[in-house]
Amino acid sequence: LILKGLGLGAATLAFPTQAGVLDLFSADKPTLGATTRPLNIHAATRPEGVILTPEEKATTHNNFYELGTDKGDPARNAHYLKPEPWQLRVEGEVAKPFTLDVWDLINKSTLEERIYRLRCVEAWSMVLPWSGISLAELIRRAEPNSRAKFVAFETLYDPEQLPGQASRSLGGGIDYPYVEGLRIDEAMNPLSFLAMGLYGKTLPAQNGAPIRLVVPWKYGFKSIKSIVSIRLVEERPPTTWNLLASNEYGFYANVNPQVDHPRWSQASERFIGEGGIFGAKRQPTLMFNGYADEVASLYQGMDLRKWY
Ligand code: MTE
Repeated sequence: LILKGLGLGAATLAFPTQAGVLDLFSADKPTLGATTRPLNIHAATRPEGVILTPEEKATTHNNFYELGTDKGDPARNAHYLKPEPWQLRVEGEVAKPFTLDVWDLINKSTLEERIYRLRCVEAWSMVLPWSGISLAELIRRAEPNSRAKFVAFETLYDPEQLPGQASRSLGGGIDYPYVEGLRIDEAMNPLSFLAMGLYGKTLPAQNGAPIRLVVPWKYGFKSIKSIVSIRLVEERPPTTWNLLASNEYGFYANVNPQVDHPRWSQASERFIGEGGIFGAKRQPTLMFNGYADEVASLYQGMDLRKWY
């Protein structure tokens, strides 16, 4: 499952953040994925001609507000998060709820590598090689019942490991834990992915160790990091950015170059390649981030110009 085109855009635009809140972290040194290790990956072929974002950029330019709101903070503060051991609950409207020992899965599985575009709502993008399993595979194991209409995801809540959770101002005004959600048919789409690796190694903390969601046709904020719970539910679950600013961030948040963010255009983006964000030229943003063939049918009958 690969991409079609790639691109670049101007992304000096930020999420709404509170200013100057991270003095707490300033003494810490970067740990840039020092704790990662190689993974067992199935057929990790990287197609020719695809330009990946350099690993060093993908692990130092992050959004993970629990580890700080500046792009370099999550890497600097990565050492706070202890991803091992890690348990993930799959529960709710299912016949067989279970607790997954994530490292058992990582150590015993052959993971699949997928190269996906990541398009942040802030109008920058990357192309990243994730390793993991399809979300559908895990959900099916729990045997969802007929009331399971949505899937709710939750990030770890532990202010000692995720110090941005210690206060609202430190964590960019968000009420933690970070929560996200998908409709069940979106979750079961083969593109929806649970990543446990990046560039053939276990995930660095700043990228959402040890397990995070990747939904490549939606803005990056849907791709929730460091997940501890996947709950099948009947009603549409609350989602973090929608709770914070419902006029700016919808539940669906499908990448759509024709619908601007109220404060900036979504028509183009900056692709973060060798030059980093400041050297990047703008490239056009693609409908559904280039995955329309795979996912457009999920939204038949919905007005895609509407801000859901
Ligand atoms: N998950 C949590 N728990 N906290 C966050 O702040 N940021 C989101 C998403 N997942 C975020 C999160 C946003 S806005 C983006 S663009 C992606 O993670 C960035 O993923 P990356 O840092 O691995 O590129």
